[in-house]
Amino acid sequence: MLSDAPRRQLAGPIAALIERLPKVELHVHLEGTLEPELAYELAARNGIPMPYASAAEMRRAAMEFTSLQSFLDVYYAACAALVTRADFRDLTLAYLERANADGVRHVEPFFDPQTHTDRGVAIDDVIGGILDGLAEGERRYGITSGLIMSFLRHLPPEAADVTLSAAEPWLDRLVAVGLDSSEVGFPPEPFAGTFARARSLGLKAVAHAGEEGEAELVARTLDALAVSRVDHGVRAAEDPALVRRLAECGVTLTACPNSNVRLRVFPTMDRSPIKRLLDAGVAVTVNSDDPAYFGGYIGDNYRAIAAALGLTAAELGRLAANAINGSFASAERKRELFDELALALAGGE
Ligand code: ADE
Ligand code: ZN
Repeated sequence: MLSDAPRRQLAGPIAALIERLPKVELHVHLEGTLEPELAYELAARNGIPMPYASAAEMRRAAMEFTSLQSFLDVYYAACAALVTRADFRDLTLAYLERANADGVRHVEPFFDPQTHTDRGVAIDDVIGGILDGLAEGERRYGITSGLIMSFLRHLPPEAADVTLSAAEPWLDRLVAVGLDSSEVGFPPEPFAGTFARARSLGLKAVAHAGEEGEAELVARTLDALAVSRVDHGVRAAEDPALVRRLAECGVTLTACPNSNVRLRVFPTMDRSPIKRLLDAGVAVTVNSDDPAYFGGYIGDNYRAIAAALGLTAAELGRLAANAINGSFASAERKRELFDELALALAGGE
């Protein structure tokens, strides 16, 4: 079972509204959408040994995380299956097929190039394959996207800088840089130079903070990296002054309810501060993080948080609007998405 949270029944009209919402996903790691069955199919195709005897065993291991690090160990190991440009395309398309079923209309996914280049995979195959998948997904499903290249913070900051340089031929196809992996012990400040360079090259910046790390790390991330969004950021709720700062500056938080419970950021879903943040005027959003590992895609996250916190239709509308507003989509695309949201809230198709 996902969590020990007391489960409230989701009222029919709220469940129907969640189905209808045009969803914008701002926090999903493509590598975290690698379902065990696809991982084993790709591993067989590439002749790569996998760390578990079967997809079923990998799925069982994915139920037993006790911390961010215990999850990341499995996540990085499974990435060994991804080798060719076609693998990255197939991974991306498999995610978009599920996202489409969930009503996702725009997505800004992360990928971790260093997880692949450190194994000898060419960065051109990683980015080229993902872009192939995103283009095909837009043709098939009409889902628009902006791709975010994330640096691994457990590796030296110089490696992030080398990665930014290696990606230079692709920069006009990326929308932002990000920062992920183990948070505690790997603060944001050493990455300030690379983030400043990325911004000077025309990219936006986002970064994970306030997941396992304390509220203070959210403030330090805003100060050091000048990010437009904080990924997770939920532990900011522990500091009232920081909550006021977030509400005033309008920075978007990309919260991931199922991930937070699975990785024990909160013991149960009803302890999530998402409603408190929303009430305080913070631009919080709902996302899936690593849906292949955390028991569901974005729709499941909306349903879980709505049930646990008893969210109203108006609150769900604000969460969806925050995601449109906080995205890096063009003004025209945002207008289309807001029109779709207004229809969904009015009960129309
Ligand atoms: N990489 C993939 N998922 C992550 C998470 N939840 N936190 C930090 N790094 C990640
Ligand atoms: Zn994440």
